[in-house]
Amino acid sequence: MSNNILKNLAIIMDGNGRWAKERGLIRTKGHEKGADTIRDITEYCAEHETIETVTLYAFSTENWKRPKYEVDFLMRLLDRWLKKELETYHRFGARFETVGDIEGFSPKLQKTIASIKEQTAHHTNVTQILALNYGSREEIAKAATRLASRGEEITENSLGDELNTPYTDIDLMVRTSGEQRLSNFLLWQLSYSEFFFTPTLWPDFTPHELDDIVDQYVNRNRRFGGL
Ligand code: FPP
Repeated sequence: MSNNILKNLAIIMDGNGRWAKERGLIRTKGHEKGADTIRDITEYCAEHETIETVTLYAFSTENWKRPKYEVDFLMRLLDRWLKKELETYHRFGARFETVGDIEGFSPKLQKTIASIKEQTAHHTNVTQILALNYGSREEIAKAATRLASRGEEITENSLGDELNTPYTDIDLMVRTSGEQRLSNFLLWQLSYSEFFFTPTLWPDFTPHELDDIVDQYVNRNRRFGGL
């Protein structure tokens, strides 16, 4: 009987658009509702005894291909939402971090991101990491380039250390909305993760469902290549 400890959780939040479509609403309404789900899930993680980080795929390097109005909406939502969430981060004792190339965002949004990071840096219940303008292949390539430019050898250990994420390996990865693919998310860090795919659309995903998944994870047999 195994008893896995869950420290690092990652989630691909998918299905906002379909959630809105099912209700005859515009896609952006799904993103707004999805943002509420982020809060509920972060609260669950902050209260969970062993979870240290939750990494959420919020905007991929490929998401720029969406219609301009949707990209603009997501940027504005993120800015507005982060400012509003500050109180929530304090209440949950949650630290806010990001992975990805935020220099691709407007100076205003970059300033908001930096400010929320700074103001929540002392919290220790959980670190919420939003993957923003994130692509895993690019992250790996850039880390290798940095090592090479310093004349350092590229090994599994040196590259792993160089990847600019505030954790090492992800224990559990969940994707909502029934899609079963990784979409260029944390390819290195997911090497030994347990995967769970649920048909639930992200705006309908609840801490209760996550708790069921965590229970199943705890009882899965993780062998890391051994017997
Ligand atoms: C996928 O839904 C969702 C995203 C584009 C990323 C997650 C975004 C949010 C939860 C919105 C709010 C985020 C923040 C941080 C304020 P989709 O549009 O791909 O859904 P679909 O596949 O049904 O079209």
